[in-house]
Amino acid sequence: MCGIIGYVGNEECAPILLDGLRRLEYRGYDSAGVAVHDGQELRVLRAAGKLTALGDALGRNPVHGATGIGHTRWATHGKPSEHNAHPHVSGNVAVVHNGIIENHVELKTELKASGRVFKSDTDTEIVAHLIDLALGRGLELFEAVRETLKVLRGAYAIAVLSKDDPSRIILAKNASPLVLGVGDGVMLAASDVPALLSHTRDVIFLEDGDLAEIRREGAKIVRVDGGPVERPVTRITWSLMQAERGGFKHFMLKEIHEQPRAIEDTLRGRVNLDEGGLEAGEMGLDAETAKKIRRVVFLACGTSYHAALHGRYLLESLARVEAVAELASEFRYRDPVVGEGDLVVAVSQSGETADTLAAAKEARERGARVLAVVNVQGSAIARAAHGTLYTHAGPEIGVASTKCFTAQQAALTMLAIHVGRSRGALSVEKGRALLQELVEVPAKMRETLAGARHVEGIARSIVHARDALFLGRGLSAAVALEGALKLKEISYIHAEGYAGGEMKHGPLALVDRDMPVVCLLPSDSTLEKMLSNVQEVRARDGVVIAVLDEPSVARDIAAHTIVVPRAAEAVSPLVTSVPLQLLSYYVADHRGTDVDQPRNLAKTVTVE
Ligand code: AGP
Repeated sequence: MCGIIGYVGNEECAPILLDGLRRLEYRGYDSAGVAVHDGQELRVLRAAGKLTALGDALGRNPVHGATGIGHTRWATHGKPSEHNAHPHVSGNVAVVHNGIIENHVELKTELKASGRVFKSDTDTEIVAHLIDLALGRGLELFEAVRETLKVLRGAYAIAVLSKDDPSRIILAKNASPLVLGVGDGVMLAASDVPALLSHTRDVIFLEDGDLAEIRREGAKIVRVDGGPVERPVTRITWSLMQAERGGFKHFMLKEIHEQPRAIEDTLRGRVNLDEGGLEAGEMGLDAETAKKIRRVVFLACGTSYHAALHGRYLLESLARVEAVAELASEFRYRDPVVGEGDLVVAVSQSGETADTLAAAKEARERGARVLAVVNVQGSAIARAAHGTLYTHAGPEIGVASTKCFTAQQAALTMLAIHVGRSRGALSVEKGRALLQELVEVPAKMRETLAGARHVEGIARSIVHARDALFLGRGLSAAVALEGALKLKEISYIHAEGYAGGEMKHGPLALVDRDMPVVCLLPSDSTLEKMLSNVQEVRARDGVVIAVLDEPSVARDIAAHTIVVPRAAEAVSPLVTSVPLQLLSYYVADHRGTDVDQPRNLAKTVTVE
């Protein structure tokens, strides 16, 4: 999600910035730009689309200078376009930013009221205006940035370059990555290590709340709200490929580990704990509109369909609205009854899946209101919808969806709370309690991820299995379906997900001592019934792998247990999904498959 590069040294920096941005391409982006100090002026060049477009622009309008900043933008606020591309300039300062400014609406309103004119739709331009205003009050650049940071809420990594001082770049980090590169008479900054490796292997990882200044001679680092700090210089020994994956063996594993951050970013700026509701104007679903909903129809494919099942369940239980989840690939071929009064929620990581797009368009033509829950800003499904609820998971590169899935679950949980509160089905207290549970999910995911090695051990024991079953009930039934899909798509082991109660209606015939059966047993309203289903499996010698939050529950029936932190029923699927992803990953890795690009599959399915 966005890439930042900064350079202060002795060489022509435009090619260095461009090369750094290329090394950050894996993060995903839709536009790019640079600001270079040419000794007199700030020269800013930006282009929509790929870096070749920025390279062409630099070819037509060469810029010369040895201090500059660059950026690749993954749109979150405002369409992917040249005018929204970074750097953003106000007065004499240029700013690039990665992250989301939570209080951008109120800050922008204040700035506009004081006469500031905005040239973009981004939250970032606010930062440039605020720094310019602080400079106008007589503060020097470093202090002007510090003052600005004090009013920002949210996630940011920023780099600031001023026309008045080509000798330095100011940097700040809070919840978005930023690392400094320490060279010989040259200093760099970047969102990630790969962008620095052609220049140096000595880096300094900034911490949240750090404010830094880099000059050719070195770096000065202080706490935004305090004095100087020492940050150690780390020598990087990774290869370039390893560095792009953050040291992880595969993008999928990296993305599994990014889930706590993906959930935090998806919740950021939306959760209103005081009201027990949501700030989500982008959805176009105010209380009046929500009250008029007759039925909610979720449309999606693959993993997104499993997230849709989560949404469907919660819309019914929390908002008391009739809800159905449909495979988009089936929906449009059966002349569906859909129209006015229906809220159609199109769920898609890419926002480009042909079946989901076509189904959403058809539903809209028939009079339904369409809400897109997508991860890619300005994607086709977002454009085809009346409103959007973006998951802010950042770009997902592994074909197998992981962080986008749990971000979808989080977004759909928020949607259910919003509709429930709007219709009076949920009290303020209940809404608040559920949102608080959501807010606590990232910490519970981190705790679960800390047990990855244990899951790897279990994965080793089933690496030669021919088939596997995944069982869950209630909300966990959708997790079971997703667990099975994950295992089959990356390890090529045949796997099926079932609602536990269905076992005795057929699948039980498959169970023998060679069959691993992953059972989801969180402490919820379905636990008792699920335990009976697990006993049925155990009685046929099935190898039970229990995912639970209370170890004593499966003491006598499970061959392996994976213990996760306890969470409320509505959000426990976000936590229990994590070990299932890890299990699939390690099985696939030990089988030596192409984890990030499984055979026959594509990341974005744009054919029907
Ligand atoms: C997930 O691991 C799969 N690769 C696939 O099922 C995917 O979820 C499906 O193709 C839908 O894609 P979308 O979310 O981009 O619409």
